[in-house]
Amino acid sequence: MDSALTVSGGIDNSAGKAWFSNDRFGMFIHFGLYALAARHEWVQHREEISPEAYAKYFENFDPDLYDPKEWARRAREAGMKYVVLTAKHHEGFCLWDSKFTDYKATNTPYGKDLLKPYVEAFRAEGLKVGFYYSLIDWHHPQFPIDGIHPLRNHPDALEMNKSRDVSKYAEYMHNQVRELLTGFGEISVIWFDFSYPKREYRGMPGKGRADWQSEELIGLVRELQPNIIVGDRLDLPTDGNFPKDLATPEQYTPRIAPTSNGKPVRWEVCHTFSGSWGYHRDENTWKDAGQLINILIDTVALGGNLLMNVGPTARGTFDKRAVTALETYGEWLTVNGRSIYGAGPSQYQAPAGTRFTQKGNRLYLHLQTWPFRHVHIEGLGRKVKYAQLLHDASEIHWLDPDAEVDSNIGVAVGDGILTLELPVLKPDVVTPVVELILKD
Ligand code: GLC
Repeated sequence: MDSALTVSGGIDNSAGKAWFSNDRFGMFIHFGLYALAARHEWVQHREEISPEAYAKYFENFDPDLYDPKEWARRAREAGMKYVVLTAKHHEGFCLWDSKFTDYKATNTPYGKDLLKPYVEAFRAEGLKVGFYYSLIDWHHPQFPIDGIHPLRNHPDALEMNKSRDVSKYAEYMHNQVRELLTGFGEISVIWFDFSYPKREYRGMPGKGRADWQSEELIGLVRELQPNIIVGDRLDLPTDGNFPKDLATPEQYTPRIAPTSNGKPVRWEVCHTFSGSWGYHRDENTWKDAGQLINILIDTVALGGNLLMNVGPTARGTFDKRAVTALETYGEWLTVNGRSIYGAGPSQYQAPAGTRFTQKGNRLYLHLQTWPFRHVHIEGLGRKVKYAQLLHDASEIHWLDPDAEVDSNIGVAVGDGILTLELPVLKPDVVTPVVELILKD
């Protein structure tokens, strides 16, 4: 096994799960009724839209151009190896033909299940398939109103809660999870979202493990899909009986790899192309090519995965900005994927403006800023046997550590230092990578 894949400590990297840290890069998809509003998937919360008023999106839901084969092809071409789709988001709308609710795609003008074709299309492109399932549900009549519910400021909220029973909601949720994990073949990831036990608002408590019955829920998940990787937002006790399977930092670039109870943990950051997960027509903070690529590099350099989100339009398409971002990844990974897939952190210290990943005796220097000609790397002197730019396999020279570099100033390379000589012109690659092949 590659050194990068040998993870010590608390991570369950058994055969059924080892693929995850090898594959490194997945696609998140947020698709639901909020795509019609086109102003954030939390629109119902933000604008305090009642279920009655929100019904207009249900009544007009018709993604007539939905073609999951196209989504899957684009994901594969972008270099993504797995996918996680919102089977249900906080609004409560279900993309599949669940027998436990009427609030589902089959009852909209579209009239068809979206989930089966999704699963089949992505599998056919060779990607592992996952589901996101919202613990929160702003539609279910038994879900007690709380501080993030759209009805939180309704004058009768407390009164309405008297007829809501969270245990009935939990039963519904467990039934749906059973449906999702039995009706679609092998599911590789389940992403539960999210718990907020301490967020009390106007006498209405937040929600956590007691509400979701998280211990039972994880038991059910493990029984139905023994190899599935489970996100960490169930608010499970941290007493050691429920080792964390997947830490999920969101819209955040960690400085150091996350841990759980002081031990290494499998982790995945999720990010958006712009600021919203659901399709947001007027949101303008789209990340540029450098940011997109460097998020992936920063993540793998620390030993994590990146789940990058697309919010399809209400027609069921990826909009042009999303397509461009996916192509940025595809173009870069086609020639630089060797530094990402199966690679992980390195023991060597990367110079400022660069990141290392490593796979066996190959060390990848990602030049996030392009220096003028020289890059000095401590600890690598006399350890490298060959160096090349990864994207075109063009040789890179280094300076002889025994020779004087500049006789005018009398500075030598320095013992233990590797000084690479780069071309003055930055190659036409978003972030160029130098592949260093180490001596055995
Ligand atoms: C958050 C949001 C949500 C999004 C998720 C993705 O918890 O509630 O809208 O789906 O993060 O990480």
